[in-house]
Amino acid sequence: MTDFKEQIARLIAPAAAGLTEEEVLGMIEIPQNPDMGDYAFPCFRLAKVLRKAPPLIAQDIAAALEGESLFTKVEPVKAYVNMFLDRAQAAETAVLAALDRESYCRSDLGKGKTVVIDFSSPNIAKPFHIGHIRSTVIGNSLYKIFDTLGYHVVRTNHLGDYGTQFGKMICAYRHWGSEEEVRKDPIRTLLSYYTRFHTEAEKDPELNEEARKAFYDLEHGGEEEVRLWKWFSEMSLKEFNRVYDLLGISFDAYDGESMYSPMLPGVIQELQEKGLLKESQGAGVVDLEPYDLPPALITKSDGTSLYCTRDLATAEYRKKTYDFDLNIYVVASQQTLYFRQLKKVLELMGYEWAADCVHVPFGMVSLKEGTMSTRKGRVVFLEDVLNQAIEKTKEIIREKNPEASEEDVAATARLVGVGAVMFNELSNSKIKDYVFDWDHVLNFDGETGPYVQYTHARCQSVLRKADEATLAAAQAGKDLDWSQLSGEGAYTLTRLLYSLPETVADAAVKYEPSLITRQLVDIAQAYNKFYHDEHILVEDEKERTAKVALTIAARNAIAKGLDLLGIQAPDRM
Ligand code: ARG
Repeated sequence: MTDFKEQIARLIAPAAAGLTEEEVLGMIEIPQNPDMGDYAFPCFRLAKVLRKAPPLIAQDIAAALEGESLFTKVEPVKAYVNMFLDRAQAAETAVLAALDRESYCRSDLGKGKTVVIDFSSPNIAKPFHIGHIRSTVIGNSLYKIFDTLGYHVVRTNHLGDYGTQFGKMICAYRHWGSEEEVRKDPIRTLLSYYTRFHTEAEKDPELNEEARKAFYDLEHGGEEEVRLWKWFSEMSLKEFNRVYDLLGISFDAYDGESMYSPMLPGVIQELQEKGLLKESQGAGVVDLEPYDLPPALITKSDGTSLYCTRDLATAEYRKKTYDFDLNIYVVASQQTLYFRQLKKVLELMGYEWAADCVHVPFGMVSLKEGTMSTRKGRVVFLEDVLNQAIEKTKEIIREKNPEASEEDVAATARLVGVGAVMFNELSNSKIKDYVFDWDHVLNFDGETGPYVQYTHARCQSVLRKADEATLAAAQAGKDLDWSQLSGEGAYTLTRLLYSLPETVADAAVKYEPSLITRQLVDIAQAYNKFYHDEHILVEDEKERTAKVALTIAARNAIAKGLDLLGIQAPDRM
């Protein structure tokens, strides 16, 4: 695809007093206000070298660009040169790029590079709640984005299947558990035992001692403890997989924390040999005071391991196994300090790849009624949210389309209901905390997933009505009269189609899928405006073919964008 910025830099550089093309490129701006042109070049930096006032320089550069076929208008405004692209050329470039479904937004930026993404990573025997959706959906979208940019991506689920809480769970099960009850509704039941454990332990601190012992036995291969733990894990995974199926998300590895347990003595020994392990009140820690960080806890006084120890083993394992260029952790911002400690310890161990370990934090989800608390049993299950979204969508579709078969309603509702929840998660800048609100998530008007999906279905419906010959000519994109797409509405849309690939690349650099979400809303709005303001399937062949080509391009952009968010694009709605 022609890179307009590069072309402009090439044209301006000779007139820009010794600045290289590269430097000019870095200075070109895209004005917020389209009245100021598609691109603008500020002349302040040139004033010193040229010993001239910036507005005069802007006039000279504008004069030098006079007559260039790339522009319809070049205008000096104060210290800026404002450039208006030739709209037919802009439309041709953007639409041709988007017509090619396979290559649009793809690049080989990441060729030969490997990215590990650790995401979702819920805890066994605990609810997969609405708080987990962010890591799950953001991580999955990052996977799609890096994949499209040519990286080799490994999706790994660092299941929380180890740790002292299993001691509590085992202990609680022994006191109050029933196998039958657990089998009926595993996670909710286990959760109720876990909640009970915390209330009872407040009255009877002995229970904590019992739980510690149970975890110690688990870690040392106690038969009964291991059996229970395995059973809890299996049942939890079954539930988790139901949710992953609903979301259409999968993993390359389910390497839970327990997998690293045999590697822990090695890590501890390594820390000792490198002189990093200090004793503090019976526990083993790495002192991070010189770095203004709290000490990293490596072993407890009874010798059992900790979250951090397992993460050290995990990082080493990933480096050995995948030789990653980037090792990304999509984990809530509550763990920001923790990941700084983890990185620092890896660095002190002498691993220069510690710098390639990146924590991608995201804000908390809270309920209107207050924060969620697993210990207190106050949680919203993700599966319930998804199922309710699907049910709600069914009602809306039945209302809109009473003739639709139950089968069609169910299929569309699943796609749209789940899409609505996912889109909502990816709409907010990921770092922002937000309050989960049913009414908002399921509001199908406005800047939502259903709105974007609906626009895709609308494009498909236009294309179903177009005749074969027009479709074929539009898809081929040859000898089209691109000037047919210079109207305001078409132009707004082509600019958005043009910049989508840049946005995708930017989303990877910033680990921010919401950039794509926002642009998808803009594209949908632009297409809908175009659709309302103009007739698409008009008599005139040239005009019709160009507009159909734009419709195919818009459809491809929406489908690609949704796919990068992990959301499906329906043909009908
Ligand atoms: N299971 C953890 C939690 O729910 C998240 C794990 C994130 N990954 C990691 N390698 N620490 O908080």
